[in-house]
Amino acid sequence: MTNRSHAFKNAAKPSSPLLSPGRSTSRPRGRSTHEPCPRRACLAGRRWGRAAAWYGYVGSHPHLVHYFAGPDGKPIDEYLARVRSRFEQWVRDLCQRPRDRAWLDYQEEIALRHTRTKKNHTDGVEAAPEIPLRYMIAFIYPITATIREFLAAKGDPEETVEAMYQAWFKSVVLSMTLWARPYVEQRW
Ligand code: HEM
Repeated sequence: MTNRSHAFKNAAKPSSPLLSPGRSTSRPRGRSTHEPCPRRACLAGRRWGRAAAWYGYVGSHPHLVHYFAGPDGKPIDEYLARVRSRFEQWVRDLCQRPRDRAWLDYQEEIALRHTRTKKNHTDGVEAAPEIPLRYMIAFIYPITATIREFLAAKGDPEETVEAMYQAWFKSVVLSMTLWARPYVEQRW
């Protein structure tokens, strides 16, 4: 078994210990006063499955695993676990938080954490310094395409599944649009 497959072997198992790492300290806290609409709440309810699918996708692509690896080329398990936890928080925020100033500010923070300005800082690791923008944009596809089976898993009518799917797609594109800003600065 390679180091890569070892690091990601629990990707699709919700009971994995990778699901209980610490959280980021700089994420905005506090209860949302926004009433989540049923469609978005529904998405939130499927967040665990969603995160596992994302994790498995990264794990099966060595050029993406590279960005979680240390100087020895091996994936850093603790880094993966902590990022996974923050990823799940992003899904919850996307589904439940209002699109207010705090939410917007945190989108900038997430963007910076993919760039050389802040990548690796939160977890104190020595991994590759930046995710290329082309990988960021291209990742919209798997993050969208792989969610459909999770959305359909509870047997909702097709039109409900399709509406959730479209809501998710729109939200991911919105996120990526905001995250592109530090890569292109004034040309954003
Ligand atoms: C649509 C595209 C993507 C989405 C939705 C996404 C989502 C996220 C989220 C929510 C986080 C946690 C941010 C936080 O600290 O709160 C994160 C961190 C991270 N993502 Fe992405 N990501 C995307 C593309 C990628 C790609 C293509 C890679 C390449 C492997 C990647 C690698 C990472 C890494 C290494 C971190 C940790 C950065 C750090 O704090 O050191 N992401 N991502």
